[in-house]
Amino acid sequence: MHRFKKMVGEPNILAIESSCDDTSVAIFTGNKLLSNVVSSQLDHEELGGVVPELASRAHVQVIQSVMQKALKEAHFSIKQINCIAYTQGPGLLGSLIVGAGFAKGLAMGLRVPTIGVNHMEGHVLAHFIEEPYPRFPFICLTVSGGHTQLSIYRNYLDSEILGQTIDDAAGEAFDKTGKMLGLPYPSGPLIDRYANLGEAKFEFAQSNVNGLDFSFSGFKTSVLYFLKKKMRENDQFIMENHNDLCASIQSTIVDMLISKIKLAIDMTGIKEIAIAGGVSANSGLRKRLNTLSQEYGLKSYTVPIRYCTDNAAMIGITAYHMYKQGQFTPLDAPVLTRQTSF
Ligand code: KG4
Ligand code: ZN
Repeated sequence: MHRFKKMVGEPNILAIESSCDDTSVAIFTGNKLLSNVVSSQLDHEELGGVVPELASRAHVQVIQSVMQKALKEAHFSIKQINCIAYTQGPGLLGSLIVGAGFAKGLAMGLRVPTIGVNHMEGHVLAHFIEEPYPRFPFICLTVSGGHTQLSIYRNYLDSEILGQTIDDAAGEAFDKTGKMLGLPYPSGPLIDRYANLGEAKFEFAQSNVNGLDFSFSGFKTSVLYFLKKKMRENDQFIMENHNDLCASIQSTIVDMLISKIKLAIDMTGIKEIAIAGGVSANSGLRKRLNTLSQEYGLKSYTVPIRYCTDNAAMIGITAYHMYKQGQFTPLDAPVLTRQTSF
């Protein structure tokens, strides 16, 4: 039987994120972040995408040292930790199992409770790591490598999905079109950098789905056919127009995202708008959101770049709010690879 030690005051939480190809550990006292160490796996860059089996093996190799580093930076000993948080899903099965197994082993050894966090909720609650915090209710566009969704947050743990992608995620739209240009994985940050040096002079199809759902497959096909045609006419086309192509790809994806945010504002009347997830680091999206806020009189919120892409701080802050509500996770809880399983 797993008996917990008695706890007084704010919890000291050790949080683990391992849902994809980044291994990360963060330490919190209450809602105060003390350290957040992220170790990114670089092998996938050469392989053109995340290879699940390699990702889970790499988590096994580094998780212990990432934890030691996080404890050291926080000036904490493991014995001071009284709650272990981990990403329960969605994500890659093997990668999730490594983080969850490590968390449960630690928790059993320390006789402390575990909290399994929904990764997508983590991306959104990253807004509460540092002030200014969004005010409830707010709309959040969460855009990452695996997901694209618009949600309404009525409270920390009270949300509803208003719309989501029916095919690719926004991050995949960046990564896959970047691959067509010959850029390494993940190409989102590179497209962002080159887009700032170019002009959005090429037009691509914008997928048109009703309501608050998203689709990026038509856009992706339109970029592919455009490049094929142009390369047949001039095989140096991509090289000669590289920055303008990046600017055009970015501006089309951002247009599609912004138009759904506008629709969500019109439909709900809510004027507190947040963006989260890896793609929310995109400078074009941040600028357009800023302009939209001025035009529509919105209050918009972005997360500092270091908390946009996968990190354990977002898991820790979510666990803190779950802890306050007594939402613990039993040791026999499975990992949940799909968002719909939550
Ligand atoms: O949230 P995240 O780290 O991982 C997932 O949960 O998927 O997001 C990773 C995604 C990748 O597709 C990457 O290309 C994209 O975020 N990304 C960006 C930028 N930084 C990361 N996309 C566009 N512009 C960026 N600056
Ligand atoms: Zn993520």
